[in-house]
Amino acid sequence: MRILVTGGAGFIGSAVCRHLIASGAELVVNVDKLTYAGNLASLRTIENYPNYTFHRADIGDEARMLDILRAERIEAIMHLAAESHVDRSIDGPAAFIQTNVVGTFKLLNAALAYWRGLDDEGQARFRFHHVSTDEVFGDLPLDEGVFTEESPYAPASPYSASKAASDHLARAWHRTYGLPVVLSNCSNNYGPYHFPEKLIPLVILNGIEERPLPIYGQGANVRDWLYVEDHARALELVVSKGTVGESYNIGGRAERSNLSVVESICDILDARRPRANGKSRRDLITFVADRPGHDRRYAIDPAKIERELGWRAEESFESGLALTVDWYLENEWWWRPIREQRYGSERLGAGRMANADST
Ligand SMILES: NC(=O)c1ccc[n+]([C@@H]2O[C@H](COP(=O)([O-])OP(=O)(O)OC[C@H]3O[C@@H](n4cnc5c(N)ncnc54)[C@H](O)[C@@H]3O)[C@@H](O)[C@H]2O)c1
Repeated sequence: MRILVTGGAGFIGSAVCRHLIASGAELVVNVDKLTYAGNLASLRTIENYPNYTFHRADIGDEARMLDILRAERIEAIMHLAAESHVDRSIDGPAAFIQTNVVGTFKLLNAALAYWRGLDDEGQARFRFHHVSTDEVFGDLPLDEGVFTEESPYAPASPYSASKAASDHLARAWHRTYGLPVVLSNCSNNYGPYHFPEKLIPLVILNGIEERPLPIYGQGANVRDWLYVEDHARALELVVSKGTVGESYNIGGRAERSNLSVVESICDILDARRPRANGKSRRDLITFVADRPGHDRRYAIDPAKIERELGWRAEESFESGLALTVDWYLENEWWWRPIREQRYGSERLGAGRMANADST
């Protein structure tokens, strides 16, 4: 397949590009604006492949998107480009509306114009895969319930509201204009090449440097974690085998409180690289004022994608977290420049000290 990946220089998008190249895709076209979150270094292992190409472009540039679709004779779009950090959406929601809502609208328009120009066979084959989050469903009580594909939308943050809006647009372009759209809503991802403002990479890097490990509130908020490469495999299945007009929930059946995630990272780091003073890194955990409107718990029921597309998460949370910690220990070349030059690990979303949450 000739696939256009938007946001391919981001955390999940780069995992998707690497996965598609490894699984022998005919062509992978990465379209990314390279915001603070985009990093071409994450594509170093595939950048010289003849079936990989990169265009620096904004998904909101409809004419440019149409030109690329035509020039590269694209057969499927996997749309991941987004503003993705909840804390940033609290401080500055405008960019989230612009990229996640208006940008998705422009991309859908370009895709529709392109799709209408294809022959019958090309139209039947074409897919627009809209990649979304479980956060569109709002949150759950700490002790019961899971999100299914039928859960009502109830987004709580500017980020999740903008993603919910984009999901509705994608469905409408299918229902109203016939564009062959598939959707997926995934739980929290973690793994290699994750920008160090998010909870897991921030805690790993602060832990390596023996700096304080900040956690919002009491760390009781629960997230359902999925190793990013398991997500990339799921996305390839959805775009290639998913039923048009359907959505698929993707999750790893791995619910953990933020506190237990941080404690697990401390224990792995202590085993890999013991502190000179012999103490556990758990001593570095610091509780800080909570994020406004902080969602309590997310939990995904992935039964539909397991049943219909035969997908299963291959990594448990424990095995995936160990792989992730080892990757950060071994790949300082990737994270050191980001941490020192482009990102001061300032606290966002509440205006005080360094912190991060899972999204
Ligand atoms: N990270 C998660 O845990 C998670 C979970 C479920 C769903 N998602 C969704 O998956 C997608 C990717 O998430 P991520 O964590 O990799 O995000 P990310 O912030 O790491 O990457 C986003 C990428 O999009 C690019 N981008 C931003 N605005 C753009 C624009 N206007 N035009 C072109 N490119 C632009 C950025 O440069 C960056 O490379 C998002 O749509 C997000 O909502 C993320």
